[in-house]
Formats: sequence, structure tokens, C-alpha cells
Amino acid sequence: ELQVELEKLEELFTVNTEKLKQITKRFQEELEEGLQENGKNIAMYVTWVLGFPTGKEKGEFLTVDLGGTNLRICWISLTGIKDETSVEQHQFKLSDDIKTADVSKLWSFIAGSLEKFVKEQELNSSKDKLLHLGFTFSYPAIQDYIDHAILQTWTKGFEISGVEGNDVASQLRSAMAKLELPVKLVAVVNDTTGAMIASAYNDPDTIIGAIFGTGCNAAYVDKVRNIPKLKNNKEISKLDPDTPMAINCEYGAFDNARRVLPITKYDSQIDEQSPKPGEQMFEKMSAGLYLGELFRLVIVDLHFRGLFLKDRDIAKLKKPYSIDTSILSTIEDDYSKDLSKTAEMFKKDYNVEFSKAELNFGRRLAQLIAIRGARMCACGIAAICQKQGITRGHVAADGSVANKHPQFKKRWADALGEILDWSEEDKKKKDLSGDDDEQVGPIILTSAEDGSGVGAAVIAAMTLERWKKGV
Ligand code: BG6
Ligand code: GLC
Repeated sequence: ELQVELEKLEELFTVNTEKLKQITKRFQEELEEGLQENGKNIAMYVTWVLGFPTGKEKGEFLTVDLGGTNLRICWISLTGIKDETSVEQHQFKLSDDIKTADVSKLWSFIAGSLEKFVKEQELNSSKDKLLHLGFTFSYPAIQDYIDHAILQTWTKGFEISGVEGNDVASQLRSAMAKLELPVKLVAVVNDTTGAMIASAYNDPDTIIGAIFGTGCNAAYVDKVRNIPKLKNNKEISKLDPDTPMAINCEYGAFDNARRVLPITKYDSQIDEQSPKPGEQMFEKMSAGLYLGELFRLVIVDLHFRGLFLKDRDIAKLKKPYSIDTSILSTIEDDYSKDLSKTAEMFKKDYNVEFSKAELNFGRRLAQLIAIRGARMCACGIAAICQKQGITRGHVAADGSVANKHPQFKKRWADALGEILDWSEEDKKKKDLSGDDDEQVGPIILTSAEDGSGVGAAVIAAMTLERWKKGV
């Protein structure tokens, strides 16, 4: 019986090459639509980061990163010399109650953490010599200029009231002013843009910045002339049409209309039970916040149908989000005899004993979910490459799935090759500048060098330069 179920799940979660191509085609259309008009599904936000850095940017910067799991504060010294950037950092854990707190709690926590960091690092500043701050804020936000960002909708399970529809830069500024922090906020940056710029600071082959983490999204550089929705924007009209502009795609929202995504009933369940049903459909099928939950939903469903963990108490597994995505990595990484490591983990952490058949089933399920996720992640990048006519280069990637899942990169690369019709020869190409020997192909993933720190600092440096020139 379990075998029959497994076959059904294999079919449900397998995305073949043809489907990948179909998804990518629609993806490309949605990217284009987002550039044409405001309010489209993929938002394609302009970031006011005008192209890539030269690598010569210099200066000292404070950065703060509100990610999905941590609040990270860094002090970055850019020397303008390759690989000589120095970073001092402190991570502050984002407790669950912050994610659902109210607006004042959020900003006083961030400003308070900044205050602690500035004291701890003994950073010198005064009223006349303010510290320059780059703020990485990784949620969909409209930027009318670089030190401004109106949050459109929380993603990744955040539910803090009083922020949506408001300028997060001015909210942070007020909180810092209350503490009399000698800090000037220079730039608000999405993590994807940060990843891209941090990498480009050292690596001229960088083409895209991508996050495969709690959420999934990418940034790339387009020309101002290719953003018709902004043709009446006063600031944009001051720029030469050939000016490069970094775009934060916010493509986690791809296909919210459910036209091409291979949505299963489990994906729908995740969507319905999320704080924002109908939003971030692509992200809900491919990003780290959701993969473990998908696994749990399948198991619990089979249990209720009397097919899995029969007559055992699965109380702990019934709790939503009790299976973290890192568990899928643990399962796939288990090379012990009879999957004994996985068995022990379920016994110890979930108080439930898996039979041998159930362990094998669990492993295959973990693979199916992660493979589908990695293959779908390739569609977003392939769509950007096809749209831009990019055939080679480095995708600067960050995020827990890219960094921690043992098979992600290989599966992602295989899928990319299928979509872009790489020849056998292409597939064997080794790019020795990559940081991972196993990576092959004309377009590879490289690890983004600290996008939220270095990237935000480089962007702040580029911004100060521009302001000096009056651009
Ligand atoms: C971190 C970056 O390394 O990765 C953040 O500092 C980014 O800016 C994060 O948001 C993404 O990964 P995850 O897995 O934490 O969502
Ligand atoms: C979500 C956010 C987006 C971010 C991504 C990766 O999709 O909306 O801004 O880049 O997660 O962290």
C-alpha cells in the first residue's frame, strides 16, 4: 500500500523538463509584465542601485540586516582592494514574538541592538560625523529613492502590524532618533541586491544575486529604458536611458494566479494555513520555510488515512512547522546503515518510531520535495537569463537551502541545463573561478559573499559617491 502511495507521490512531485520549460516561459512573461506596469504579480522593483560596483569603493559602514532568522549587525571596512574587506559582526536572535510583535517593538529592538553594537565596537562618531548605515530589508518594498522603502506586504511568515504601507526607512530613523544614535541611514537594500553587489565587488562575472533560503527571490541589472512603467517618473527621466538599474524581482510571487505551477493539495494547504493565502505561491513551493512543512503534511495525511506510522502517537508531528527544512537535509545526508541516524532523530525529537519501510519512504519523500524545490528554483534564474540573453556567468547565491542542503546545487544545475538546452559539452564545462569543484556548466552558482553586510556597505558607498556628484 505504501508503495502505491509512493508511486502517486513520485508522479505528483516530479517536474519534468517540458514542465520546467513551460514554467520558465510563463516566468519570463511575468518578469516582463512587472517591468511594463505597476501592481503586476512579479513586482520588479527598481532599487536605485545604478549598476555594478567598480570594486574600488571605499569607506567604513554600519549595516543591519533584518532577515528571516536573525538580526545581523556589521561594521564593514571597504578598502577598494579585492578580498581585503574586513567585517566585524554580531547576530541577535529574532525571537518568534518579534515576528508577530507590533511596530514599535520591532524598531526599538533593532535600534536597541544597533546601540549595543555601536557601544561594544566602540565606534567613533559624533553629531558632525555620523556613521553611515546600509539597511538590508528583505521583504517586498517600493522604493521611490534609495533611502526609502514602503513595505507592500510581509512575506516569510512575518505578521508585524503597523509596517505594511509605511516607509521602513523613516520608521527606523525615528527609532534611532529616540536613542540619539549618531547614525545616518543611506540605503535600504533587498538581500538579493545585496548578494549581487557584494559578489560583483570582487567578481566581474556576477550576473544575478539570488536567495535560496527561508524565501526565494533574485535581483539582476537591467537598463532604465527597459522599465516602461517608470517613464513618467521624475527621478528616472533625469537618467540616461542606458543607465543600468538593479531590479529586485520579488519573484516569490510568481504565478499567484496558479496558471502553470504544479500545485498539489499539500501546497494548497500550506497556502491556506499561511498568514497570507494567495500570496508568494512560487516561494511556498520552493523555499526553505516551507519544504519541511510539506514533508510533514504528507506524512500526517498518510497517517490519518491509516497508511503511515499506524497505531503510533504522532502528537509532535501534528504541530504545524514542527519539521524544519534542515531535517530534510539530515535525512538525505544519512548514509548510516538502515537509515539509523534518521530513525534516532525521529525517536528523539518526535518521540515516534519509524519502521524500516517507513524510513525508506521518508527518505524518498524528502528527496522528492527537495528535488522539486531545486528544479523550480532553476526556472526563475533561467527566465532572467533568457529574458536578458545571458548565456554565461555567476549567480551569486545565499540562503540556508543553497548553503546547507547537500544536493541543492547539483539538482539546480541539472534543471538549469535542461531548461536552457545545454549541450553535453556545456554541461561538462568547469568554471574554475567557482568556489565549488563539482559545479559545471556555463552558468554556475557562487556563494554570495555576505550580501547583507558587504553588499549593503558597497551600495551605501556607491550611493554616497552618487550624492556627492549630485546624481
Ligand atoms: C543571510 C543574509 O546570509 O542569508 C540575509 O545575511 C539573507 O540577508 C539570508 O536574507 C537568506 O537566508 P535565510 O536562509 O536566512 O533566509
Ligand atoms: C521573500 C522576500 C524577498 C526576499 C526573499 C529572500 O521572497 O519577499 O524580499 O528577497 O524572501 O529572502
